[in-house]
Amino acid sequence: MKIFFAPMEGITDGILRQTHHRLFGSVDVYGLPFHKLTRSMSLLTREKRDIAPEENEGLSVLPQALTRDPQQLTAWMDHVKSCGYSRADLNLGCPSPTVTRRGRGSGMLRDLPALRVFLDRLFSDPLAVALSVKTRIGYESPEEWPEILGMLADYPFAHVTIHVRTAREQYTGGIHPEAFDLALRRGLPHPVYNGDLRTPEDVRALLARCPGTEAVMIGRGLLADPALARRIRGGAPAGTEELRAWYTALYEGWCGRFQATIALGRIKKLMEWPAGNDIKKARLLRRAGDIESCIAAVLG
Ligand SMILES: Cc1cc2nc3c(=O)[nH]c(=O)nc-3n(C[C@H](O)[C@H](O)[C@H](O)COP(=O)(O)O)c2cc1C
Repeated sequence: MKIFFAPMEGITDGILRQTHHRLFGSVDVYGLPFHKLTRSMSLLTREKRDIAPEENEGLSVLPQALTRDPQQLTAWMDHVKSCGYSRADLNLGCPSPTVTRRGRGSGMLRDLPALRVFLDRLFSDPLAVALSVKTRIGYESPEEWPEILGMLADYPFAHVTIHVRTAREQYTGGIHPEAFDLALRRGLPHPVYNGDLRTPEDVRALLARCPGTEAVMIGRGLLADPALARRIRGGAPAGTEELRAWYTALYEGWCGRFQATIALGRIKKLMEWPAGNDIKKARLLRRAGDIESCIAAVLG
């Protein structure tokens, strides 16, 4: 089974991806956070850096775009190819109102006839790279899923990542694993399960229910436990020294790129995941003024 590290804007940058690969590995593909495409086709400095080959040396990565314009997507895929990559992903999942208001991300699921026109235009000529898609199971309601699923199955996507929530449900609302089962039953080529896989047991339960699962994508579970992919493959849990090395390397990597206060802010944001619902850890983490205090807050 393939494991994708989910793209997480503002968190899973090149420093995190490289550090994770070096210290923990066991992930097959690292998703790159989306590039918001514009008419001028100029990427932000951070987007340019994120997709640069040197940022991803030695990694298998999946660049991602957010757009509702097929020409923009085609031009961006040419750029992806020129950077040396052979695949790219279309985001139909982002639920942020600033994105959906412009009819992008999961906003594209609100108007399926327009989505079909977009996909027809996109696939009318050969694409520069293999294109996959990451989708929600509806905008308002899971009842929208069968129609969305039917439409996505009509196009030659390399794979389809299914975050088993609606856009309305954001990241913590109800979860609908049966939407993935339906994709398998309908024979959608190469579906990738995504949503709330936090432990090896969660993955085992998914495989028991859906033995045909070829691939999973994991985001927050890997932030909370960077050894999760290794554990899923039968390897050892992370030791304290390993976790200390992980947080220290991330902090030092971010310090080399940002001001120290920003690097500290980033590491604190990341460490909220391993701190979880532990109120004492969360309080100590909030008060921490340096990396050592952050590590002491979370690892004790
Ligand atoms: C802070 C944050 C940023 C995210 N950024 C992206 C993104 O750039 N592209 C994307 O497709 N999904 C993005 N997601 C969604 C995740 O990739 C993933 O689908 C979601 O967290 C559910 O998976 P999980 O339960 O394993 O975390 C983001 C999620 C969070 C919480």
